[in-house]
Amino acid sequence: MELSRHSSIILSITIVTTFASFVKSSLPQGLQTLNISSEISTDPNITASFATDFGMLFNSTPGAVFYPSSPNDIATLIHFSYTSSKPFPISQRGRGHSTYGQTLVPDGVLIDMSSLGHTNYSRINVTDGPIPYADVGAEQLWIDVLNATLKHDLMPRMLTDYLSLTVGGTLSYAGISGREFKHGPQISNVYEFDVVTGTGEIVTCSREFNPDLFYAALGGLGQFGVITRARIALQPAQKRVRWSRLFYTDIKLVTSDLEKLISPDNNLSGIIDFVEGEVLLGVAQASLIGFTFNFTNSDVQKIIDLASDNNGPIYLLDAVVFYNDTTATSAEQKVDLLLKELQYTSGFAFSYDIPLLNFLNRLHYQETARSSQGRFHPWLVMFVPKSKILEFDSTVYKATLNGTNTVGSLLIYPMNRTMWDDEMSAVTPNAEVFYTTDFLWTTSEANDTKNITIKNNQIQNVGEQLGCKEYLPHFKNQVEWQKQFGNKWGKFVSRKMKYDPKALLSPGQRIFTPSGIN
Ligand SMILES: Cc1cc2nc3c(=O)[nH]c(=O)nc-3n(C[C@H](O)[C@H](O)[C@H](O)COP(=O)(O)OP(=O)(O)OC[C@H]3O[C@@H](n4cnc5c(N)ncnc54)[C@H](O)[C@@H]3O)c2cc1C
Ligand SMILES: *[C@@H]1O[C@H](CO)[C@@H](O)[C@H](O)[C@H]1NC(C)=O
Ligand SMILES: *[C@@H]1O[C@H](CO)[C@@H](O)[C@H](O)[C@H]1NC(C)=O
Ligand SMILES: *[C@@H]1O[C@H](CO)[C@@H](O)[C@H](O)[C@H]1NC(C)=O
Ligand SMILES: *[C@@H]1O[C@H](CO)[C@@H](O)[C@H](O)[C@H]1NC(C)=O
Ligand SMILES: *[C@@H]1O[C@H](CO)[C@@H](O)[C@H](O)[C@H]1NC(C)=O
Ligand SMILES: *[C@@H]1O[C@H](CO)[C@@H](O)[C@H](O)[C@H]1NC(C)=O
Ligand SMILES: *[C@@H]1O[C@H](CO)[C@@H](O)[C@H](O)[C@H]1NC(C)=O
Ligand SMILES: *[C@@H]1O[C@H](CO)[C@@H](O)[C@H](O)[C@H]1NC(C)=O
Ligand SMILES: *[C@@H]1O[C@H](CO)[C@@H](O)[C@H](O)[C@H]1NC(C)=O
Ligand SMILES: *[C@@H]1O[C@H](CO)[C@@H](O)[C@H](O)[C@H]1NC(C)=O
Ligand SMILES: *[C@@H]1O[C@H](CO)[C@@H](O)[C@H](O)[C@H]1NC(C)=O
Ligand SMILES: *[C@@H]1O[C@H](CO)[C@@H](O)[C@H](O)[C@H]1NC(C)=O
Repeated sequence: MELSRHSSIILSITIVTTFASFVKSSLPQGLQTLNISSEISTDPNITASFATDFGMLFNSTPGAVFYPSSPNDIATLIHFSYTSSKPFPISQRGRGHSTYGQTLVPDGVLIDMSSLGHTNYSRINVTDGPIPYADVGAEQLWIDVLNATLKHDLMPRMLTDYLSLTVGGTLSYAGISGREFKHGPQISNVYEFDVVTGTGEIVTCSREFNPDLFYAALGGLGQFGVITRARIALQPAQKRVRWSRLFYTDIKLVTSDLEKLISPDNNLSGIIDFVEGEVLLGVAQASLIGFTFNFTNSDVQKIIDLASDNNGPIYLLDAVVFYNDTTATSAEQKVDLLLKELQYTSGFAFSYDIPLLNFLNRLHYQETARSSQGRFHPWLVMFVPKSKILEFDSTVYKATLNGTNTVGSLLIYPMNRTMWDDEMSAVTPNAEVFYTTDFLWTTSEANDTKNITIKNNQIQNVGEQLGCKEYLPHFKNQVEWQKQFGNKWGKFVSRKMKYDPKALLSPGQRIFTPSGIN
């Protein structure tokens, strides 16, 4: 019953929308008379450079590329399409770090959000005080936000692992990393934002003002509007970190330590600032550990030996303590306490002391090193309920992926759902604690993407059995999207009707399509 009711709603969205067939190399009629027309390019050399994304798995050239110089310009474009007798789809692109063509828009206009940053006024304003925050352009990269806030001895409360992602892009998913257990995902650490809706209206929203749009757009996969500015929560920054990298051969020990580290019920969670785990499937992956910070060649050899003596995956746990220069001694004591209480394989603790910025920006170096390994990125990220993680380990890492030597980061770390607001569009599994499990594959062989995709599908099937949800989700049809959203689907659809009734925005997510139900 529910299902068919929502299906007919979708149908009505798509029936009213007859999309213009976007004639390449010419703008839709009327667009050239707008005062923003000089910011729109149909030059094939330019449109071609926006035809794919980080994943390199999908290709589709947009009809035109739009370089707005202000949020008003974005409102003008969307309003034009919305009121046109032949509306066209519009895709807001951050830096295109999507992996499954989410920013592509074959017969429409792609908004290059970065052009908002090419202004003479600041797009990152830091306000210090009892509740410090930063007002930032949604096109800004987190590394630039971090860099600007550090000048005030402040930092965003929550950052992703990789920082060359845009604010608007990560707020459209959730924005997660091994700091989630402190304050929740990035969407839980934003006070307000400006958004241009699918009707071309500019709205400022927060928990108090226009809360429904606030909750819709956070984790909203770009479906409800184009975020142009966000007010981000900050906190005092430390100067340095003590970073411990510990190895395990037993899934039970590593998960028990990971859970202990994020649980407020003991005295370890209070002393650490960051926790993540990683699975190394075997010798091939263990030998690539040298791409990550900061093992010596003899460390790497030791780790390879551990992997080769072990029948099955080995696990890495990263536990990090942030500290100011003056508190080095107490940081040392904290690390000693950690190492005493954790159950890693004896002799396999490696500790480093580096500046905070080098730690937070660590993947900048790693990604540079690893990008030499390949250019296709058929990624999968699952949220696995804590009660299922041992089964997930034995089914996925030890069976489905046994023998795999594909390059990739297979992260595994727990998060606490209490820190997520279920009013928001982001989807989590039904469990207080759940694990993020990343399968961040990299390959230079187009052929390998086929067998990796087969493995990914097998993992997705396991996930479905175990009550998992996907992060950075991508699905082939609307039935799968309904499953992903579960009981949140109805609200997602009704918000879509309210804020983007002609389904103009971010069609590359393939949730709502102009041509009807898939
Ligand atoms: C190397 C790498 C590391 C990553 N690490 C992490 C990580 O640690 N944690 C994490 O959570 N994610 C991570 N991601 C995933 C990342 O969050 C997504 O790729 C996300 O898409 C951000 O990239 P982007 O800013 O380039 O957005 P894009 O890929 O350009 O856009 C993604 C989606 O958001 C929409 N969108 C973009 N800007 C806006 C806006 N201003 N308003 C509304 N909608 C918008 C787009 O239409 C599209 O649907 C990583 C990705 C890569 C490639
Ligand atoms: C175009 O006109 C609209 C109002 O009609 C205005 O808000 C916008 O700033 C103008 N843009 C440019 C680039 O002049
Ligand atoms: C596009 O690029 C090609 C090759 O680089 C060049 O010859 C051509 O002039 C370019 N076209 C335009 C419209 O700039
Ligand atoms: C920024 O300032 C420079 C010089 O003052 C000017 O040439 C340029 O047009 C300005 N750019 C914008 C986007 O206002
Ligand atoms: C930063 O402050 C300047 C000056 O008040 C303002 O013009 C600009 O819009 C602000 N930027 C953001 C992203 O809020
Ligand atoms: C931080 O900003 C400064 C300029 O203020 C720049 O020189 C430096 O390269 C930036 N650092 C990073 C990591 O982007
Ligand atoms: C670290 O020290 C600086 C002063 O050097 C201070 O501004 C900052 O608040 C301190 N950070 C923390 C987390 O206490
Ligand atoms: C999750 O977080 C809440 C709120 O901080 C806390 O009460 C609860 O104990 C946490 N759960 C676990 C299992 O760590
Ligand atoms: C941490 O907790 C353990 C067990 O509850 C206790 O034995 C230990 O003394 C505590 N350590 C500190 C530093 O409080
Ligand atoms: C990384 O390791 C190398 C070699 O062990 C060492 O020289 C270097 O100082 C380390 N870097 C940092 C930032 O600790
Ligand atoms: C992986 O496969 C090999 C060869 O088929 C087998 O010997 C090994 O036991 C398997 N590993 C695990 C963890 O099941
Ligand atoms: C895909 O196939 C390649 C070549 O046969 C193999 O090396 C790799 O392990 C496979 N990857 C997966 C994820 O199965
Ligand atoms: C890729 O696969 C096709 C058949 O699926 C095969 O003909 C081709 O040789 C393969 N290429 C490589 C580089 O393995």
